[in-house]
Amino acid sequence: MKLNKNLVLIGMMGSGKSSIGIILSKKLEFEFIDTDNKIEKLEKKTISEIFKKSGEKHFRNIEEMVSLKLLKSNNKVVALGGGGFINPNIRKYTQKNCISIWLDWKNETLINRIKNSKKRPLAMKMNNFELQKLIIKRSTIYNLSDYKINCDKLEKKQIVEKIIKLYENAQN
Ligand code: S3P
Repeated sequence: MKLNKNLVLIGMMGSGKSSIGIILSKKLEFEFIDTDNKIEKLEKKTISEIFKKSGEKHFRNIEEMVSLKLLKSNNKVVALGGGGFINPNIRKYTQKNCISIWLDWKNETLINRIKNSKKRPLAMKMNNFELQKLIIKRSTIYNLSDYKINCDKLEKKQIVEKIIKLYENAQN
């Protein structure tokens, strides 16, 4: 089997990394991995429960361990959690060994999607202003990915097509 670099989707909560990742993985015939799902299975708790019972620091440690382990393979579509690429160790490994794509959306779109989401403990405690500040701060780091897609005016299908083109060009 040809060894293809992992395609890593990055971006804020609510940017569609998982839903787009699933479609992409089918088209590329790669396995799809969502790091948050792996963390939940490993810890036998939801992300919210992990944050509540063990704290964010514990979550970030597990996130680093799980993400680095998963990235050390090939032929995968990996959806990192919104904070994954913000971690310097995960980011450096991804930049060196994978092809990363940032799914970028207008702040307003992201805020509307993530506010009041019970599945997202970090966003739950923030108001719109704080969320906006987080998006702006993180965007400078997401910008260190290989490619960025402005998703706002695109259908899901078009986003997937764009990613496949970028990925195939980058592999050649
Ligand atoms: C987080 C994003 C979440 C999850 C956790 C923290 C973040 O993943 O990892 O709640 O710091 O942005 P999604 O981006 O898949 O929602």
